[in-house]
Amino acid sequence: MKVHIIGGGYVGLVSAACFSELGHEVHLIEIDRAKVDTINRGIPPIYEPGLEELLKKHIGRNLSASSDYQNIGHSECTFICVGTPPALDGSADLNYIRNAAQSIGSALKDGRTSHTVVVKSTVPPGTTGTIVAPSVLEASERRDGSITFAMNPEFLREGWAVEDFFHPDRIVIGCSDGIACKRVRALYDRIDAPVIATGLHAAEMIKYVSNAFLATKISFSNEIGNICKRLGIDVYEVMKGVGLDTRISPHFLNAGAGFGGSCFPKDVSALISLAESIGEDPRILKSVMEVNESQALRMITVLESRIGNLCGKQVAVLGLAFKDNTDDVRDSRAIPVIEALVGRGAVVRAFDPLARHAMAKIFPDISYYNSAEGALTGADACLVMTEWPEFSQLDHEFDRMASRVIIEGRRILTCDGKEGICW
Ligand code: UDX
Repeated sequence: MKVHIIGGGYVGLVSAACFSELGHEVHLIEIDRAKVDTINRGIPPIYEPGLEELLKKHIGRNLSASSDYQNIGHSECTFICVGTPPALDGSADLNYIRNAAQSIGSALKDGRTSHTVVVKSTVPPGTTGTIVAPSVLEASERRDGSITFAMNPEFLREGWAVEDFFHPDRIVIGCSDGIACKRVRALYDRIDAPVIATGLHAAEMIKYVSNAFLATKISFSNEIGNICKRLGIDVYEVMKGVGLDTRISPHFLNAGAGFGGSCFPKDVSALISLAESIGEDPRILKSVMEVNESQALRMITVLESRIGNLCGKQVAVLGLAFKDNTDDVRDSRAIPVIEALVGRGAVVRAFDPLARHAMAKIFPDISYYNSAEGALTGADACLVMTEWPEFSQLDHEFDRMASRVIIEGRRILTCDGKEGICW
């Protein structure tokens, strides 16, 4: 099929590459011309394992990118994959969604052939039906039913996005009618996964609730970890036993410094804001955020309990990305920790395999090293903030420290003499 995708970010670019791998003819529309140029050269502007190979394989064949909407009418489907960043009050900012819908509508104005507009961005329930559809129909002046709508959320984890696209636990398709549902289903024909066909609102809500529940599992695990640490119990031993219950599953029970990334904080905040706007008090969801917001700073509490006043102390921070296998530092738990260290007069020595440049935009004045050993040399203490697998190999490198105080915010180290944030 012929598909247009609006938005060349983590979701849009991965979806464009993967849809082209499934054999569809895909055109990606991205407003940032610099990004368009690199994509058309087969170079992804973001780091995602497997993405570069797919771009190089399909660019110039059945995958292309540009900044204009003009040929949208030649496609059967257009996916909206633009950002829905949190507004100041925590609610989802839908301006990019509105702009994309209007542009799509204008581009469809003179067309006649049937077209389905699919929202893939994470949007509050009701958005597709009450904002996207009216915007497209008004701009296109086509109210003959030839334009239909669907909502098809993604469940891609950064660092695993290509893998997750081809091996989803389920494909969720919310539709306004049968034509839209059939068309979106056909796009995924070659993927072996259960398909949930439902209404637009339910599909929008499935995405929010999935992320909110995963975030809840993490904050729950962190709260249990905080209790266990006081009791001298290893929370990882506990969660191993708890996670074997198939009703619970072992996934997302890793206690640590809390969740970061561009999704969990944003989506839980948006769901809280939505609940409050309709007069419901989301006490559990607010607690999930409260636990998360205070969790990372426990690293500082543990550190001060070990070395006292931090002023002038050399502190190595290993791991800056919000999780391993990505260069993304959005809402990384290393950010509040570095902020607190700098605020207390500590000298920060940072290392991350991929995310150094991204973090240097936020903290240009701390020192960055090209290796863990470099950051550790002479340090009075070390905080591990990202679960990079390579950190599990570190051992003799810690002997380069001035004092071997090692605190991990992620359960990743195998060396002796470490202490965990909540273990
Ligand atoms: C998440 C969802 O997993 C994905 O389905 C959705 O589409 C987008 O948001 P992502 O944010 O990329 O994906 O990363 P994820 O692997 O979920 O981790 C999110 C954060 O939670 C990271 O900071 C990670 O370190 C933390 N985490 C994860 C925990 O602290 N404990 C866990 O057990 C799992």
